[in-house]
Amino acid sequence: MEKSKVLVVGGTGYIGKRIVKASLSQGHQTYVLKRPEIGLDIDKLQLLLSFKKQGAHLVEASFSDFRSLVDAVKLVDVVICTMSGVHFRSHNLLLQLKLVEAIKEAGNIKRFLPSEFGMDPALMGHALEPGRVTFDEKMEVRKAIENAEIPFTYVSANCFAGYFAGNLSQMGTLTPPREKIHLYGDGNTKVVYVDEDDVATYTIKAIDDPRTLNKTIYIRPPENILSQRELVEKWENLVGKKLEKSSISGHDFLESMKGMDYAHQVGVGHFYHIFYEGCLTNFEVGEDEEASKLYPEVEYTRMDDYLKIYV
Ligand SMILES: NC(=O)c1ccc[n+]([C@@H]2O[C@H](COP(=O)([O-])OP(=O)(O)OC[C@H]3O[C@@H](n4cnc5c(N)ncnc54)[C@H](OP(=O)(O)O)[C@@H]3O)[C@@H](O)[C@H]2O)c1
Repeated sequence: MEKSKVLVVGGTGYIGKRIVKASLSQGHQTYVLKRPEIGLDIDKLQLLLSFKKQGAHLVEASFSDFRSLVDAVKLVDVVICTMSGVHFRSHNLLLQLKLVEAIKEAGNIKRFLPSEFGMDPALMGHALEPGRVTFDEKMEVRKAIENAEIPFTYVSANCFAGYFAGNLSQMGTLTPPREKIHLYGDGNTKVVYVDEDDVATYTIKAIDDPRTLNKTIYIRPPENILSQRELVEKWENLVGKKLEKSSISGHDFLESMKGMDYAHQVGVGHFYHIFYEGCLTNFEVGEDEEASKLYPEVEYTRMDDYLKIYV
């Protein structure tokens, strides 16, 4: 079967650039949206040019120019959107509604993967304010996709390791503490840590796979289903030193939201659901699919390996 042509929208972003790389390395003709709005952002431009050097096609289009989006979409079979959705960086998930309209108008798309790549928003109807905005907006985009009868795959990627493992799941830092660590409750809730490059590999594997059509694919590599305590132990083994541990109760953790700025309040809510409630692992995959079962050939990164770079 011929491999689909792929358009990545948001290709210079944190997860987007890995998706572009995976698409190219898995042999797809890869198109990357180049927005005129990037203006003098030399880093973005050079990243785009580096994609071009590796064989990608750059497609000029803007969210302010509907026709240009339709024309971009018409070039390919599959659209993957990695639009920003992390409040302390930038958050524009609802812009995707324009892309959904463009896909509907173009009428040729075999699969659309919207910007998800986190917790499954369909399971977060109970989520706390203000963090629930992320899930509500992702659900609004899903509704538009499904109303337009666009074939889709939703990727639930759990905890990106760069945000959740490198820091041993501490908020407000991206590197591991060397002396003391806060555990969420007893630290035994199971969560799922995934190397971002593996997220991209699994995502690209799914795009032409009939088993993932109109389904959610959960990325839950079995050896990366760990509690925070287990993750910390891996780090302690690497550095040959025990960290001093203290526990934060769920109540105190939520109280810490008071006085924080909006972006951090969103983060606290998400951490609460992941580390206290166990929202990544408290359900069975059921009718949907799990990536490491679908693609056992992927040698996913284990977290002791991932953490070595931080030593
Ligand atoms: N599971 C996790 O742990 C985790 C962690 C982080 C993020 N995520 C999820 O991953 C997804 C992507 O997040 P990210 O952190 O990778 O995003 P990001 O790097 O902050 O941004 C991605 C891209 O969004 C595009 N963008 C931003 N503002 C735009 C605007 N005004 N108009 C048009 N395009 C705009 C840009 O595309 P250009 O390349 O065109 O400039 C940017 O490169 C989100 O859904 C987020 O919730 C999950």
